[in-house]
Amino acid sequence: MEIAIDLDKLWAIRSALPGTWGLVPTMGYLHEGHLSLIRRAKAECDHVAVSIFVNPTQFGPSEDLSKYPRDLERDLRLIEPLGVDVVWNPTPEIMYPSGYQTWVEVEALTKPLEGAIRPSHFRGVTTVVAKLFNAVQPHKAYFGQKDAQQAAVICRMTRDLSYPIKIVVCPIVRETDGLAMSSRNKYLEGADRQAALVLSRALTAAKALYDAGERDAEKLRARMKEVIAAEPRAQMQYVSCADYDTLAELETVTGKTLLSMAVMIGKTRLIDNFVLG
Ligand code: PAJ
Repeated sequence: MEIAIDLDKLWAIRSALPGTWGLVPTMGYLHEGHLSLIRRAKAECDHVAVSIFVNPTQFGPSEDLSKYPRDLERDLRLIEPLGVDVVWNPTPEIMYPSGYQTWVEVEALTKPLEGAIRPSHFRGVTTVVAKLFNAVQPHKAYFGQKDAQQAAVICRMTRDLSYPIKIVVCPIVRETDGLAMSSRNKYLEGADRQAALVLSRALTAAKALYDAGERDAEKLRARMKEVIAAEPRAQMQYVSCADYDTLAELETVTGKTLLSMAVMIGKTRLIDNFVLG
């Protein structure tokens, strides 16, 4: 496994190995969710690149950029047994050289949900992912359903910019008690860890209504709100029952549907979702 920091080394490694390449973009502090993407890439591609880069442009001014958990040695130990060809760990100066002024923006799809609360977040995500695509030139790139809107936005960007890359969206990996794995779970201490189960509990409660035949989207949203309101440590940011493709809020559930939410547990912001239909 090679480790590259600068673009020249990355490209030397990339171009020396013919065959299909899979890319797994990450911000590090890896967990089983990330590793599941890497294993899938390894199973489907001749070569795999993993990027580790805590992308400053996707964090808002009041967000956790400086506190975002980092442990490169631990990440490399976790990746080592998986047969990855190259780990790319660029510096912020490599990704955003002095005078930087070029951005990639997806429009309507980035406005609701996460975009409504984190206004410049997706501009940072699409810009960095476009740069990763340009640098690695993978045949396939792997993203998690955990960040459902991010996956939708990346699929849209890939189609709109004609990247010859297949986007593979992989299922959410959860702890045995249902908490979706996230690098930010590290912040959950004491009673907050237990309280964080409210996200999967609220989604499960709404899905139970759906499974019993409920198709009124407002009733599904109300059920999720009710479960979240019953957890004193939880502060809801949004709950949504939206069309899976457009992310527009629904009145009636008919086709493929995304139930999603963002909830603050103490100072920790968590997101989760289920897909219906
Ligand atoms: P990060 O949060 O490190 O996540 C990297 C990838 O892992 C994302 O595609 C995310 O959806 C996926 N992932 C995270 N938790 C998961 C889980 N529990 N199960 C399955 N997949 C999971 O998402 C980012 O980084 C950044 O925005 C990035 C795309 C790297 C751009 O900077």
